[in-house]
Amino acid sequence: MTTTRVLFVCLGNICRSPAAEGVFVHLLEQQGLSDRFVVDSAGTGGWHVGRRADERMRAAAARRGIALTSRARQLELGDLHSFDHIVTMDGDNLAAVRALALEAGNPSAQAQISPMTSYCRIHSSTHEVPDPYYGGPQGFEHVLDLLEDACGGLLEALQTLKPEPRM
Ligand code: 4NP
Repeated sequence: MTTTRVLFVCLGNICRSPAAEGVFVHLLEQQGLSDRFVVDSAGTGGWHVGRRADERMRAAAARRGIALTSRARQLELGDLHSFDHIVTMDGDNLAAVRALALEAGNPSAQAQISPMTSYCRIHSSTHEVPDPYYGGPQGFEHVLDLLEDACGGLLEALQTLKPEPRM
């Protein structure tokens, strides 16, 4: 049985990407697929390294029965090689991961990089998971609405993808 390694990336790794990690892990548990995936999250910035997810994000997720347990860490070059898929929340994250991928070399041995919203099936005209950090409570709910939608589409996409040979 192959293991698929998925890394969610945002800016601070305290709101969107830990929530994406929690939502995806929750979905895998519901579907009995936890042993087929390794799931993690990271931030392109390092300001919050070691911290738990923002308490507003944790509270909003808990209301949907989802626990956010991760500690923030910063994205590193090795992530391009140790994950199969890196899924970004907005255009800035996508550009930052692509820039790191240029440094990492050998693209065929690297994670596939894709925007989270590309997996949305309901919110299909949304192009970013917006940063909720400086906004009100509704922003955190909107993030979760997008992530729940996208995680369903992501899981479906990963289950239909043939694993690519890694060099
Ligand atoms: P995230 O949100 O990228 O979804 O974790 C942010 C949290 C904190 C900051 C920026 C974004 N910050 O600048 O402190």
